[in-house]
Amino acid sequence: MKKTVKLSSALLALTFGLTACSSGNSDQGADQKETNKGDSSDKKVTIVYARGQDSTKATEKVIEAFEKAHPNIKVEFREMPADTGKQHDSYVTMLNAQSAEIDVMDLDVVWPAEFAQAGYTLPLDRFIDNDGIDLSKYNQGALAAGNFNGKQWALPKFIDAGMLFYRTDLVPQDKVPKTWDELLAMAKQLKGTGGTKFGYLMQAKQYEGLVCNAVEFIASYGGKIVDENNNVVINSPEAIKGLKKMVEIVKSDAVPSNITTFTEPESHTAFIEGQSSFIRNWPYQYALANDQTQSKIVGKVGVAPLPAGDKGSAATLGGWMTAINKYSKHPKEAWEFVKFMTGPEGQKISAIYGGLAPTLPELYKDADVLKANPFFGEQGFVNALNAAVPRPVVPNYPEVSEIIQINVSKALAGELTVEQAAANMEKEIKAALNK
Ligand code: GLC
Repeated sequence: MKKTVKLSSALLALTFGLTACSSGNSDQGADQKETNKGDSSDKKVTIVYARGQDSTKATEKVIEAFEKAHPNIKVEFREMPADTGKQHDSYVTMLNAQSAEIDVMDLDVVWPAEFAQAGYTLPLDRFIDNDGIDLSKYNQGALAAGNFNGKQWALPKFIDAGMLFYRTDLVPQDKVPKTWDELLAMAKQLKGTGGTKFGYLMQAKQYEGLVCNAVEFIASYGGKIVDENNNVVINSPEAIKGLKKMVEIVKSDAVPSNITTFTEPESHTAFIEGQSSFIRNWPYQYALANDQTQSKIVGKVGVAPLPAGDKGSAATLGGWMTAINKYSKHPKEAWEFVKFMTGPEGQKISAIYGGLAPTLPELYKDADVLKANPFFGEQGFVNALNAAVPRPVVPNYPEVSEIIQINVSKALAGELTVEQAAANMEKEIKAALNK
């Protein structure tokens, strides 16, 4: 099936810049019958909700609150791998087999187009209309990431953007590094102070998080992977410069010697154990670092934009949406849970217990949300969300991602020069997009 996908101009004005439009999309599930208007039957229904490993208490708290409000629905949590790529592959295996094993699942912001195209998820439009959900209350870019071929396949739960977290007891407020060079120098200098073993932590394993880290380096030097017209522009002097800085940092002694085995959990664990002065991570890092039950650095964490290259600071756009399995035997109950999680009550719980940045702008004014995450009220944070850089928006994104993962990993391992890696990526991504 030929796919036509383009980047939308939503990026210009909105926090999330993802809109995918397609022709030739499958339309399964559109004839899904009526949604319910609440829990009308007395029969207790159990639905299965799948999402990646949650290191915070957010999922547990959201389910607890939902079950309290919906005594006839029980939610069973199915924990999926933390690695988004592995999670993706598990869903694809299940859904290809038309399995009804899970009812509701979280989707990484880079998947909805692919899942819609493959007919794995139920369009939510009818549920949304029946329940009068006001979509204008959502961050429109975030919402657009779940919209494909004119239908809403997933609703946004939270927005992610890469940030720099630092130890306020080790890094003076006026010395927070503003460039990658400053960060590297300071990370080296601080290594070993205050009981730390490392200066900087990031995600450099061969997986999706590596792509996110690479996009930040590339964009901070003015490079891109694909441009607005889906031309592959990765083999540019700017992108090469950004990737060279990434290689320099990964090869330095500021980071753990096995940094190429680090995903989010390895890096956040080392950080909350007090092992590093700096870390690049998503906003959830803040709540986790201030969780008395697992962190040794409570009250000692500051947040700043990622360091700049010669074109400024850039954060990769991430985030998660939630959707209903097309083969679910309990679509009505599944919808109730989707509605709750992505609505104000669910997102508020996620923001407070999980440090997740809401997709409902009204929650950035909520006193409890701000108390848990004071930086949500800061202009710098809002600016970083606003300027976050999307990964290529294409239905065969996993293929493009794999090309980037393999070539960047080889450059980090010294098996390819950055120039060779960039040339390979150009050739291979072009071939993948022209299929
Ligand atoms: C976070 C982001 C997601 C990204 C992933 C990479 O979960 O929200 O978009 O793909 O990290 O590890």
